[in-house]
Amino acid sequence: MDLGLKNKVVVVSGSAGKESSIGETMVRMLAEEGAIPVLVDRNERGNVYVEKFKASGIDALFCKTNVTDPRQMETAVAEIIQKYGRIDVVINNVGVNDGVGLSATYEEFMESLKLNLASYFLLTKYALPYLKESKGNILNIGSKVALTGQGGTSGYAAAKGGVLALTREWAVDLIQYGIRSNALIIAESYTPAYDDWLKTLPDGDAALAKINKSIPFESRMTKPEEIGNTALFLISDLSSHTTGQFVFIDGGYVHLDRALINLNP
Ligand SMILES: NC(=O)c1ccc[n+]([C@@H]2O[C@H](COP(=O)([O-])OP(=O)(O)OC[C@H]3O[C@@H](n4cnc5c(N)ncnc54)[C@H](O)[C@@H]3O)[C@@H](O)[C@H]2O)c1
Repeated sequence: MDLGLKNKVVVVSGSAGKESSIGETMVRMLAEEGAIPVLVDRNERGNVYVEKFKASGIDALFCKTNVTDPRQMETAVAEIIQKYGRIDVVINNVGVNDGVGLSATYEEFMESLKLNLASYFLLTKYALPYLKESKGNILNIGSKVALTGQGGTSGYAAAKGGVLALTREWAVDLIQYGIRSNALIIAESYTPAYDDWLKTLPDGDAALAKINKSIPFESRMTKPEEIGNTALFLISDLSSHTTGQFVFIDGGYVHLDRALINLNP
């Protein structure tokens, strides 16, 4: 199946994470489809990924950006336009479950919102004139936390709730330009960031086994590639009549009967 993503300029925030992070997986899969991935991240690893792409003859760009700084976001978009003259897709992926809970300060709460929510607004806002030209689309990466809560993470939960609200708001706002806006909702995906977190626990293996058991479908976490596959399908023209949707890639975590968990081995 040809997704028709060849030569599309696809901007992905938070895409210079470690290998197998969700952002890195998406840019790798985009490159495999012949798209031009643009990595917007503050981590120098972005240069390494882009050099690797270029060594295999794949065009790509890294814009070293602190996504919480509006001026740096504006500059990143200007850099993309200077190089390619177009933006076809924005994937707002940056996000850190930073544990800013009710005991955190007001400043910490606002910082969490800046990273996890305001950065989505900024990238979309600055890319919008070019999305209008390309009749492009927006994909926001959400979390089950917005719907289920987690405890101890007010900032991230509020931000991810906002991400879902903005997905629908933009679907309505931008329908007049033929721009689609959708969200992916992830529950538990085994990324390097997840692995780092498990290592901080006294018994990470037991915690992992417990989490796996809580996932109805196949008692396992979602693979980053499974998220990438759905992401690429949603941003492609094969999803040309899908907008304002929340697509769950969660092995049934949010919706299926809790009784299933007791059936899991
Ligand atoms: N892994 C999961 O189980 C899970 C569950 C639900 C939602 N998600 C969402 O999926 C997305 C990706 O998650 P991941 O685990 O692959 O992330 P990750 O932690 O591996 O990557 C986050 C990236 O964001 C970048 N970043 C952080 N702060 C930044 C800043 N101020 N400016 C620029 N870049 C910055 C980091 O450099 C890193 O490359 C996030 O939105 C996350 O909320 C993940």
